[in-house]
Amino acid sequence: MNPAQNVVTKKMILVMALCLTQSLITHSILNKCHVHVINGFSHGEILEAHGRSKDDDLGVRHVPAYGEFNWTFRTDFFSRTKFSCHMWWIDSKKYLDVFWVDDKFLSNECGGNNRRWRSQDDGVCLFSYHHN
Ligand SMILES: *[C@@H]1O[C@H](CO)[C@@H](O)[C@H](O)[C@H]1NC(C)=O
Repeated sequence: MNPAQNVVTKKMILVMALCLTQSLITHSILNKCHVHVINGFSHGEILEAHGRSKDDDLGVRHVPAYGEFNWTFRTDFFSRTKFSCHMWWIDSKKYLDVFWVDDKFLSNECGGNNRRWRSQDDGVCLFSYHHN
C-alpha cells in the first residue's frame, strides 16, 4: 500500500468506527428504561428493596415512607435485560421480576419502558397488575 492509500484507509476506518459508535449510542438512547419502586404503605412503614440484574447490583435501598427508589438503565443489545427485586417490610417479603423486555407487556398500559411498582398494604402492584 502506498502512503496515500494508507491515509485513505485510515480515514475510512475512522468514519466506519464513528458510524458504528453512533448507531450503538442511538440504539442505547432508544432503549432507555426507568424502574420506580414506590413506598405506598399507608402507615409509614419503611420498604427495603434490593434490585439486581445479571450485570448490576443496585444494593439494598431503604425506601422511606411515601418515598421512592428509582433507577435508569439501558437494555442490552439483544434486549435480554432483566431486573429482579427482593422487597421486604415489617412482616412480609416479596421477590419479583420488576423489569423484562416483552413486546406485549411494553405496549399495553403498564407504562412501557417506565415501570412503576408500588407497595401497598395488600401487596406490591404494577399499576393494576397485582402480585401477591
Ligand atoms: C427518583 O427518586 C428520588 C428519591 O429517591 C426522587 O427525588 C426523584 O424525583 C425520583 N425521580 C423520578 C424521575 O421519579
